[in-house]
Amino acid sequence: MTPTPLKPKSWRDSYTEYKEIVAPPHCNHHGTVFGGHILALIDKVAGVVAMEHCGSPSVVTASMDRVNFYQPVKQGQILHLQARLTYTGRSSMEILVRVYGKDLKDPDRKPWLTCEAFTTFVLVDAEGRPVRAVPPLLLETEEDRRLYEEALARRQARLRERGTVS
Ligand SMILES: CC(C)(COP(=O)(O)OP(=O)(O)OC[C@H]1O[C@@H](n2cnc3c(N)ncnc32)[C@H](O)[C@@H]1OP(=O)(O)O)[C@@H](O)C(=O)NCCC(=O)NCCS
Repeated sequence: MTPTPLKPKSWRDSYTEYKEIVAPPHCNHHGTVFGGHILALIDKVAGVVAMEHCGSPSVVTASMDRVNFYQPVKQGQILHLQARLTYTGRSSMEILVRVYGKDLKDPDRKPWLTCEAFTTFVLVDAEGRPVRAVPPLLLETEEDRRLYEEALARRQARLRERGTVS
């Protein structure tokens, strides 16, 4: 019997934001937030997007692409993460996370992009094996289509790096 096709879903249904004020334990001796702290937040927020999209908590991080830090965020400033789905495969999902800094003490300064990351999560079963049951992503706008097309190339590059595609 042919399985029933999964209903496509908009990225808006799983879009997730998270904010926190940068506290001393998360800073280095320059008073700048540790890159590793930001990476952990990216992983958590992107994981929530993946779970919401599949309607299941059984997802694992498969990869996080290279992350460049453009501008620092310092103690007392705000970290603002915005995470959206950009691509769905059979069991995998790509999520783009953008991280901004904001300084409440300097209202004239616009929020600045500190980094962005493309993460891939995979829906798994109880044994940790991929489950090919991720609802397809609804492509509604030009930007949705552009991000999706670009994600296909990123996927190929990742699998090539992993040694799965020559
Ligand atoms: C991610 C994982 C489940 C993939 O399992 P696998 O048996 O190698 O899977 P497959 O080769 O069948 O690929 C399954 C899907 O994952 C994707 N994938 C696999 N490795 C990937 C990688 N490094 N980056 C991006 N996507 C990846 C594939 O493209 C495929 O997607 P699709 O079903 O949408 O086409 C497995 O490698 C794993 O469990 N890794 C550890 C995850 C983990 O514990 N993360 C937390 C940090 S330790």
